[in-house]
Amino acid sequence: MWKEMYRMTSFGKEALPAQQAPAETSQKDVGNENIAARIFTFRELATATKNFRSECLLGEGGFGRVYKGCLEGGEIVAVKQLDKNGLQGSKEFTVEVGMLSLLHHQSLVKLIGYCADGDQRLLVYEYMPLGSLEDHLFDLRSNQKPLSWYARMKIAYGAAQGLEYLHDKANPPVIYRDLKPSNILLDENFTPKLSDFGLAKLGSTGDKVHVSSMVMGTYGYCAPEYARTGHLTLKSDMYSFGVVLLELITGRRVMDTAKPIQEQNLVTWAMPLFREQKRFPELVDPVLENDYPLKALHQAVAVAAMCLQEEASVRPLIGDVSVTMSFLTTAAAAPAMSPPPVVRSPTIEEESEDDESSSDEESSVES
Ligand SMILES: Nc1ncnc2c1ncn2[C@@H]1O[C@H](COP(=O)(O)OP(=O)(O)OP(=O)(O)O)[C@@H](O)[C@H]1O
Ligand SMILES: [Mg+2]
Repeated sequence: MWKEMYRMTSFGKEALPAQQAPAETSQKDVGNENIAARIFTFRELATATKNFRSECLLGEGGFGRVYKGCLEGGEIVAVKQLDKNGLQGSKEFTVEVGMLSLLHHQSLVKLIGYCADGDQRLLVYEYMPLGSLEDHLFDLRSNQKPLSWYARMKIAYGAAQGLEYLHDKANPPVIYRDLKPSNILLDENFTPKLSDFGLAKLGSTGDKVHVSSMVMGTYGYCAPEYARTGHLTLKSDMYSFGVVLLELITGRRVMDTAKPIQEQNLVTWAMPLFREQKRFPELVDPVLENDYPLKALHQAVAVAAMCLQEEASVRPLIGDVSVTMSFLTTAAAAPAMSPPPVVRSPTIEEESEDDESSSDEESSVES
């Protein structure tokens, strides 16, 4: 009951850590002893990244470049140098980073510290050795092994857990805003962690031009109402989760101009298939060579379809999605387990006649 009320009051609000940020931070480190964000000098980070040498460059995104660095004690980190364009003032930045550093979960990339020397703004994160999901899902090199069905479900489950923490455990709740494969980073065991939570707020001074170009930048992952109005809710994140889950199932990018015109937009292409359970296998990434459990496919597609509903209010809550995803992750290890609960979509017409996985053995989770 309490949880329901909490959820109800949190929807529709852009609840971000800054709302509870302290006005002043007088300590050397922000936060308490256990969860302090370390403050780095620019010189320290320049040394760590060999003067931001190109051989240390891990990638570049909408906010700047990311370098692999080695701190003095030998710790390997990822250093994100934010573009100077439209950055917040030092004090505002420090407060925001301090609040972000309070968010701790096994499915979130750890923010180790930051630098706000002069007009430099850098963030220091734990290093994720396998890079991003994008690097492992699309355009594989010939020596790269495709992710198995279970690796994909494990990644979706981890992303759901990270999102659940941000939506349901963080106080106030945090809208992630930017869920997409390049922001899902992988450790040496392919365990996923979300990166860049709160960054949309940090990288912007709030001017309209910057904000609207950011919406365009993540086009495809943005919920339709967010793209239309810029209005963000926790349900916008659920849409993005649906897109990422669909990408994991299909191995297709949300937008791919190299494909025939009717297949360029993944969601538009998949939508008609969502209505015919028998055709779900047509969605599956061909590189899996049919090596996936059919029942789990039905469940995973149902979750994606639910999340991708146009009407934000009928998309499921992350807590329910997370429970379903956990079943899909463990099915291989425990085949005798009862089947996962279904998150039902009113838009999905189930076909029960000759399908052994049909509804009589499925329980339902209200969304
Ligand atoms: N902590 C990290 N550990 C290892 N690699 C990282 C880390 N953070 C980022 N990267 C790499 O750097 C790349 C660029 O990251 P970045 O977040 O700047 O861009 P993006 O995710 O593509 O877009 P956006 O700016 O919208 O987040 C990532 O795709 C990833 O490969
Ligand atoms: Mg990123």
